[in-house]
Amino acid sequence: MSDKKIILSGIQPSGAITLGNYLGAVSNWVKLQNDPESLYECYYMVADLHALTVRQEAKVLRKRVLDTYALLIACGLDPEKTMVFIQSQVPAHAELAWILSCYTQFGELSRMTQFKDKAQKHKDNVNAGLFTYPVLMAADILLYQADLVPVGIDQKQHLELARDVAIRFNNTYSPTFKVPEPFTVKETSKIMSLTDPTKKMSKSDTNENSTIAILDDRDTIIRKFKRAVTDSFAEIRFAPGEEGREGVTNLLSIYSAVTGRAMDACVSEFSGKGYGDLKLAVGEAVSDALAHVRERFAEVSADKAYLERMYTENSQRAQYISNKTLSKVYRKVGLIR
Ligand code: TRP
Repeated sequence: MSDKKIILSGIQPSGAITLGNYLGAVSNWVKLQNDPESLYECYYMVADLHALTVRQEAKVLRKRVLDTYALLIACGLDPEKTMVFIQSQVPAHAELAWILSCYTQFGELSRMTQFKDKAQKHKDNVNAGLFTYPVLMAADILLYQADLVPVGIDQKQHLELARDVAIRFNNTYSPTFKVPEPFTVKETSKIMSLTDPTKKMSKSDTNENSTIAILDDRDTIIRKFKRAVTDSFAEIRFAPGEEGREGVTNLLSIYSAVTGRAMDACVSEFSGKGYGDLKLAVGEAVSDALAHVRERFAEVSADKAYLERMYTENSQRAQYISNKTLSKVYRKVGLIR
């Protein structure tokens, strides 16, 4: 046992991981892993059970889960150092979710804004899983006694619910779950859609030109940046929060993030230049930054035996850890284990 703080997060296998996921989440996970003085122990999962809340084709889902797993490794997570596992391979998630659903109120779940949005979008399939989705997410987190959960703004409300449920359970019985805190990594700008820079870049966006998938090839990346929406000010300036300048600001954020250079330096590099120059430079820089991920992905995903060994070993470890919490819960609520 170490006294490191536990960080836990999940990513849905619901489409290609985007540049936004990479810069906003996964690359930070890799940094935490590689910091030799890290104060954290990190667990990451491919949240495949969550993906079932919208209709999936079995063959496609299976491939996406494996691709997502391989992609996390290609991005730099080392499954021999960091526990990277597949949610459905650890039965305790579904088991605890049921129990926690009996400690979560209908009214609480009805207030979740993501549920309301998704129910609007998929009117033909407002299933119970979509409604209880945050309970499964609470189980994901509470099973591992996570201290910190890195989540984007869209998942904040779900994390808040996980905290409420944990506190309620602890008060009803006795301290059982660690109450998790949100973990925000400093100054990663949100990466916005290339076609509508007022919206977040999202892997569920149906317009391909809005997102950069981290496995997009060089030509595709450059073409998408060439088409990125800008404005008519003809001025390359970093202007977060200024209306109408979101496009150029987003391009500069991306450029600074992938080159690792300060924003001032990036802006001065383009003084006297036009939007065409900026778009091309960003496209090339993004492609360069992702080149090693593409190569590593090709290697890793071709090595089926390695992948299988990694997810199997990691799910065994996850089962071991999560079963400890689950046993406690069974005992406290009066189930016979
Ligand atoms: N619901 C999260 C999302 O869509 C993914 C997720 C599932 C997650 N389980 C989690 C995130 C646990 C953090 C912790 O982004």
